[in-house]
Amino acid sequence: MLKKILGTILCAAMCVAALSGCAGSGKKKVGISMPTKDLQRWNQDGDYMKQKFEAAGYEVDLQYAGNKADTQLSQVENMINSGCKVLVIAAIESSSLGTALDKAAAKKIPVIAYDRLLMDNENVSYYATFDNYKVGTIQGEFVKKALDLDNAAGPFNIEFTAGDPGDNNAGFFFKGAMDVLKGYIDSGKLVVQSGEKEFEKVATAEWSTANAQSRAENIINANYADKQIDAWLCSNDSTAQGVVNALDSRYAMKDKWPVVTGQDCDIVSVKNMLAGKQTMSVFKDTRTLAERTVTMVGQILDNKTVETNNTYNNNKKEVPSYLCEPVFADINNYKQILIDSGYYKEDQLK
Ligand code: BGC
Repeated sequence: MLKKILGTILCAAMCVAALSGCAGSGKKKVGISMPTKDLQRWNQDGDYMKQKFEAAGYEVDLQYAGNKADTQLSQVENMINSGCKVLVIAAIESSSLGTALDKAAAKKIPVIAYDRLLMDNENVSYYATFDNYKVGTIQGEFVKKALDLDNAAGPFNIEFTAGDPGDNNAGFFFKGAMDVLKGYIDSGKLVVQSGEKEFEKVATAEWSTANAQSRAENIINANYADKQIDAWLCSNDSTAQGVVNALDSRYAMKDKWPVVTGQDCDIVSVKNMLAGKQTMSVFKDTRTLAERTVTMVGQILDNKTVETNNTYNNNKKEVPSYLCEPVFADINNYKQILIDSGYYKEDQLK
């Protein structure tokens, strides 16, 4: 009998702790939902945020969803049920978390869309990201300058590899780059031999290196047996790595290596940059975004004005947003940007 009473008391205490979100520690709990551990950047984003939130006195529930939208949905629902006071979500599919967002709203749990905007739902409180359109324009401008499109006679051959269609960012990156390069395609100075220049045609499911590689191999086989490729605009590093693998294995004119763009400054891609196989990447300092997010959460939970510098429309509302600045990195400035800033140690790039 005594055992039963003690059991009931213990159970009740655990329920209260879970509901209060403090798990007995008195700390507010933040739920962080990241898409995948497969890409270096999300591991860094998750690690930095965990560190910074814990240093600021929060408890953290950090989950990775293996790039599976249904796993992410149930992880976020668990965070809601286990007493998280605020959610930070980098969505796998921008529109697939609606039911969880509604549940969060019913419990008055604010939601921050992290890096990727949560679409088609009004229960998104804030968006913390880098300027996604600008990432694309930086890539486009890099190609424009590298090929000297305004002065050189051309024509030049270019191909495009974009990101996952379910990720709202992917369209922004592609549009940013296309807005810089489209005029040159229209005038014939840039030629897309594959004919594939619409986002739907050049998109890469799951941003996967393997998917990008197999499409690039097909394009090279079909169009570039005896033609030079001058540029390959890739929206990020994981896709650029696939294109570089395809060039390595299928491209005959290795002495005329194309300009290859990327984004993230993943270690593999920086190594490719040092080896002359990827020409540039866009650096988005994940430490900056993590810090911004911690600041935002503090301002929300302390009922202070939340600092924003933009808005993004998610088809249901204008989401107040904070956009951090991306910068380009190449072989000439990587030391200053990546090493001197302490982002990487020199020997990680060997
Ligand atoms: C991020 C990129 C990343 C890509 C693939 C995008 O939403 O903004 O930094 O390379 O997802 O994970």
